[in-house]
Parts: sequence; C-alpha cells; structure tokens
Amino acid sequence: MRYKNSIDGISSDMLKGFFTDWPNPPNSQTHLKLLKNSSQVVIAVDEDPNQVVGFITAISDGVLSAYIPLLEVLPAYKNQGIGKELINRMLKELENIYMIDLCCDDELVSYYEKFNMTRTNGMILRNYNRQAGGD
Ligand SMILES: CC(C)(COP(=O)(O)OP(=O)(O)OC[C@H]1O[C@@H](n2cnc3c(N)ncnc32)[C@H](O)[C@@H]1OP(=O)(O)O)[C@@H](O)C(=O)NCCC(=O)NCCS
Repeated sequence: MRYKNSIDGISSDMLKGFFTDWPNPPNSQTHLKLLKNSSQVVIAVDEDPNQVVGFITAISDGVLSAYIPLLEVLPAYKNQGIGKELINRMLKELENIYMIDLCCDDELVSYYEKFNMTRTNGMILRNYNRQAGGD
C-alpha cells in the first residue's frame, strides 16, 4: 500500500467504487476534481492493480480551521488499518491548525474518539439535488 499527500499521478480511472452508500454519487471525474480542489488529501493506492482504495480530504483556511468532509475506504479493503493510517496522516498534515472538525454518524463516534476527537453538536444543510456535484 502506498500513501500519497497529493493527486500527482492519480487519474479518474484509478477512482472506482467509492461513495458506496450514496444514492446519487459523484462520477470519477468529479471525484478527481474534489480531490484536486481540497486543501489537503491523503490517498491510499494499491499498486497492483494501481487503484485508489482509500482517501481523506480536508478543506482549510490554512490558519485556524480545517474541516474533514470525506473519508472512505473501499469495502474490500476495510478493517486493515487503512482508515486509521489516512486519519493519522491527515492529522499530521493539520498539526498546526487550531480547529479540526468533522461530522459523523453515531456508530463512528467511538472510532474517532481513538484519535482524541471529542463529540460535539453539528449543524448541517444538504442540497440533495447537488449530491453528485458536477457542472
Ligand atoms: C470508516 C472507514 C473509513 C474506516 O476505514 P477502515 O480502513 O475500515 O478502518 P480501520 O481499519 O482503520 O479501523 C477499523 C476499525 O473501525 C471500526 N469501524 C469501521 N467502520 C465502522 C462503522 N461503520 N461503524 C463502526 N465501527 C466501524 C472497525 O470495527 C474497526 O474497529 P477496531 O479498530 O476496534 O477493530 C470505512 O469503514 C468506510 O469507508 N466507511 C464508509 C464511509 C464512511 O462512513 N466514512 C466516514 C465518514 S464520517
């Protein structure tokens, strides 16, 4: 497994199978675009068959605050510590930032607590007609 902090060398055909539970998922070109537009990314690549198998993104003002909107590991690669490695590498990237926030479902609270994150309240708004992103 190779971990990368940039999308150099990543093409949309290496991004298959993500957004598994999304009714209206972004396509692989849109996925590549959101990786490119993120402030920080960490990507796990399985070199044989040269596919991205996990990723995490952050968007940040580069001074005080960062938000982690997306983290996903492909189903076939779950429970091998890839998610943990992606989070640890991202937290290292963000170590000079004061506020590091994310939202998650109840079942993942204990997972994120292992990274010293604490539960709080979050408020969200979703424009479901924009779930796939794109133009
Ligand atoms: C959450 C996710 C990224 C974890 O990736 P992973 O590579 O399987 O995680 P790791 O191998 O580092 O850790 C596995 C641990 O997380 C726990 N875990 C993983 N997914 C979980 C879930 N949905 N609910 C509860 N626990 C979960 C496992 O039980 C395991 O626990 P352990 O460390 O006590 O054995 C992955 O399950 C995933 O992509 N889920 C779908 C997308 C998602 O929910 N993303 C998070 C958005 S906030």
